[in-house]
Amino acid sequence: MSLTASAGTVHVRAPGKINVYLGVGGRHDDGYHALATVFQAVSLYEDVVARHADDFSITVSGVDDVGSVPLDDRNLAMRAAKLLAAATEYDGGVALEIRKNVPVAGGMGGGSADAAAALVACDALWGTGLSPARLHDLAARLGADVPFALHGGTAVGTGRGDQLNPALARGRLDWVLVTSEEGLSTPVVYDRLDRLREQRGALADDPPLSLDVPIPVLQALRSGDAAQLSMTLLNDLQEAAVYERPDLDAAIRQGVDAGALAGIVSGSGPTVALLCTGPEGAQDVQSVLRDAGLDPLHVHGPVPGARIIS
Ligand code: C5P
Repeated sequence: MSLTASAGTVHVRAPGKINVYLGVGGRHDDGYHALATVFQAVSLYEDVVARHADDFSITVSGVDDVGSVPLDDRNLAMRAAKLLAAATEYDGGVALEIRKNVPVAGGMGGGSADAAAALVACDALWGTGLSPARLHDLAARLGADVPFALHGGTAVGTGRGDQLNPALARGRLDWVLVTSEEGLSTPVVYDRLDRLREQRGALADDPPLSLDVPIPVLQALRSGDAAQLSMTLLNDLQEAAVYERPDLDAAIRQGVDAGALAGIVSGSGPTVALLCTGPEGAQDVQSVLRDAGLDPLHVHGPVPGARIIS
């Protein structure tokens, strides 16, 4: 299904993300874990078209099966539109048309990208004209990854992942993504990490409630050297994601055997992100994995956050 942007509509595109580094600390009283992460927005996009309507509705289409995506208030884009309407006392509605390219429940922030795109699209459609700072505040109320989808680029996230600072990152990184037909639930993966830590007796050595991204990660990003960065890739959620989906370990190994510098589970998974030497290296990895029967995607980062296309 193609998107039907026309006069009186706003079309916004927002990127999916990879967590180049994801350190997870202890759980706060609000149920969220302390994070220190580096996000990179990559060239896999969600498209959202907003048009005037009396009430609120959503349609979703995409390259993958989108049957599991809710079309009611459980949908983050729907919540984004209603939150903006409430915050600005706008009394109309919106019909949102979402075209998904980011895997559903894939650990790449697709739902967060939809929410960021819906905020930007409705703000333009309704003429509510919120400042970037107010949009950021609304985004943070919707979910920990939504501010980054607004922002894009490469950024350090602390707090719940929603306190952002741009990271200096030179050049472009080429990634090959191995997606899964079945998604993983983010809360399930965080819960699993807590249980694995408990089993290891982590209570005696509580994970910290505030943490930082290690300097070598930031240095590697600044250098733009993919080989240097590949040695610093780390995701504290990976062991929990692999516990739920043991095949992910094999996918990472397969990617490295195919010539990737390193591989990592993206966010809470199950998407695997393989860091490659460059565009040609990524094409080689992609073709080896395709011959092995996988459906790998070549993307690059960083790319900009949610922006109006028309
Ligand atoms: O904010 P978001 O909706 O993306 O979070 C989904 C779930 O992931 C939360 O309900 C929580 O279980 C878990 N989470 C967490 N700590 C974070 C971010 C997410 O425990 N910093």
